Amino acid sequence: MLIHSSSQLLTLAGGPQRGRTLGTLGVIEKGAVVVRDEKIIAVGTTDELKNAYPDEPAIDAGGCVMMPGFVDPHTHLIWAGDRANEFEMKMSGMEYLDILAAGGGIISTVKATRTASIETLIAQTRPRILRMFSHGTTTAEAKTGYGLQTATELRLLKALLALDDESPLDLSITFLGAHAIAPEFKDNPQGYTDEVVNTMLPMLKEWWQANAPRLPLPFVDVFCETGAFNLEQSRQVLNKAKELDFPLKIHADEFDNLGGASLAAELGAASADHLVRTSDADILALGKSDTVAVALPCTPFGLAEKDYTPAKKLIEANAILALATDCNPGTSCNESMQFAIALACRYMKLTPAQAIAAATINSAHAIRRADTIGSIEVGKQADMLILSVTDYRQIGYRYGTNLVKQVIKRGMVYSVDIGYYRSA
Ligand code: NIG
Ligand code: FE
Repeated sequence: MLIHSSSQLLTLAGGPQRGRTLGTLGVIEKGAVVVRDEKIIAVGTTDELKNAYPDEPAIDAGGCVMMPGFVDPHTHLIWAGDRANEFEMKMSGMEYLDILAAGGGIISTVKATRTASIETLIAQTRPRILRMFSHGTTTAEAKTGYGLQTATELRLLKALLALDDESPLDLSITFLGAHAIAPEFKDNPQGYTDEVVNTMLPMLKEWWQANAPRLPLPFVDVFCETGAFNLEQSRQVLNKAKELDFPLKIHADEFDNLGGASLAAELGAASADHLVRTSDADILALGKSDTVAVALPCTPFGLAEKDYTPAKKLIEANAILALATDCNPGTSCNESMQFAIALACRYMKLTPAQAIAAATINSAHAIRRADTIGSIEVGKQADMLILSVTDYRQIGYRYGTNLVKQVIKRGMVYSVDIGYYRSA
């Protein structure tokens, strides 16, 4: 299949973009791509590839921008129920951490999730995946974490594996048993930490090897935060996970600076995420490491807070910056990477080119898949978007509506732009 006549083909070629290299789009004017068997086999100008592949079945991109599919490297995709009532409470002046301390927040979703069957969980998560996909996300990370007890956490993993199988979007799964202190351990956070370390993680390893033997091990993540896991407890969780060969992630500095980002860098975690209250020392540690700094601008927006990830400082420190939605029922009920980009431009002062790179090649690196996705290069998986714009700077500039026209996932073409049809 030859997809030709884009206005601009954004290749994002050349690997993850560290520090000031962020925003290298690798634009080919009037670019084209040849795809066979799920993979990209040629990239060039429309003239070049039409000459080289005269008999290839063709799709006309119609003078639109083509780019790699978005990679969303931080979502809490699977839960039951919703928290619209808490949104109303927050808008009436209550604080997120106070709602959590009062047994609401994450814990209220945990209650709804524990009582939901696997069928219910799958049925409630499926439309979120389809919204993500139709907004251009071709691969998403997905965390457990609304179970906080072995049986429910395993049910979430099972549901995520089934959803990964059935949907066109690829999922990268993360175990977040350390998302909050389980209600049974309300007054004994160390007791729950010990439960995660001594029981859940070893069981996870066994379960994964029996149930998903062909997949690499999932990430293990921890919410390092006041009211959740302190720095020492976060270290205990991640140390044990590392000992068991799990790749690592961390939630750090969403509300308070506890030092989680430096811990992530020290342990070689794939990413440290949120990073709103991150200290200068933590920023320097990230800049010297291969740990991707994942900013989640939909979260301060969702919480109506004024502070965002200090992207400029991270870039100056030579960090690898990525963007994600943080899709979850509490702080960021949103599936669109386009919206994350629009916010990152305005509140983190990224240019559209920087935000696009952070949402593709760098976010692929945050889930350690930059060797197969995140850019349009020969040999990579054919995950691409045709957008209904002619210039890449429209991405970020425009917001609140969907710019995706077609999603190409593993070489299959899905039309998204339904337009408006009046029946005869
Ligand atoms: O990334 N910080 C922890 N986890 C989510 C919030 C989860 C929730 O409120 O349900 C986050 O913001
Ligand atoms: Fe999160």
